[in-house]
Amino acid sequence: MIEIRVGDTGVGMSPQVCRRAFESFFTTKEIGKGTGLGLFISYNLVTEIDGTIELESELGKGTTIIIRIPIRPKKDLIGGDDAERDLLSAAKEDDG
Ligand SMILES: Nc1ncnc2c1ncn2[C@@H]1O[C@H](COP(=O)(O)OP(=O)(O)O)[C@@H](O)[C@H]1O
Ligand SMILES: [Mg+2]
Repeated sequence: MIEIRVGDTGVGMSPQVCRRAFESFFTTKEIGKGTGLGLFISYNLVTEIDGTIELESELGKGTTIIIRIPIRPKKDLIGGDDAERDLLSAAKEDDG
């Protein structure tokens, strides 16, 4: 697995907000500012390639998002089923 951690020193989230943060259309922002789709879409993208996404957050301190994805995903989000084969043959060409 590859682990990617993205952190901030922002406002943080309460435990109640943490629990709902990945729900579609859940936002604490005012109308017109938030869509509530950022973390929902991230969750769907990551789980689509058999990864996991978690968050650690403390109110007033900040938030860290932890994404873990397999080094060799079974499925490529952009290229579909042929993507891995294409990548492998491109890598071979690079090797000469
Ligand atoms: N980095 C962050 N720091 C604090 N709260 C966050 C952070 N990311 C997300 N949240 C909380 O989770 C909610 C949902 O986030 P998100 O899905 O990105 O939608 P949006 O940003 O449009 O509200 C936000 O409204 C906010 O309450
Ligand atoms: Mg957001």
